[in-house]
Amino acid sequence: MLLTRRIEFSASHRCVSGELSEAANHALYGAESNESGHGHNYALEVTLEGEPDPVTGMVVDLKEVKSVLERAVVAPMDHRHLNHEVEPFDRVVPTAENLAVEIYRRLAPEFAAGPARLRSVRLYETEDLWVEYEGR
Ligand code: NI
Repeated sequence: MLLTRRIEFSASHRCVSGELSEAANHALYGAESNESGHGHNYALEVTLEGEPDPVTGMVVDLKEVKSVLERAVVAPMDHRHLNHEVEPFDRVVPTAENLAVEIYRRLAPEFAAGPARLRSVRLYETEDLWVEYEGR
């Protein structure tokens, strides 16, 4: 069974690649590359996989899930400038794609011991744009 918990956080970023020239960055990322940076209200959906416990009827203790998400994602990322304050985005472009990979990387070990394992993360940068990552 799959269980999904949604949380939101706000962060600012600027999309530029150190591998590209300033002109190439601007041509590729457009306003996302503006020097001042800008914010997004991200929504994160974390999907866990497990079986309902026969006694509790629950796949996982939702209080613990919320606590993990707040500690591993919200606390280090909410109201931060990703490029300047959150590793590894001083050297990795903080696109939604790369942010989803990093969030997955941080969350997977938190759920590795069960009872529910991390299945995927879906990160919405806007209402109409999201990425989904299921690990490798
Ligand atoms: Ni942006």
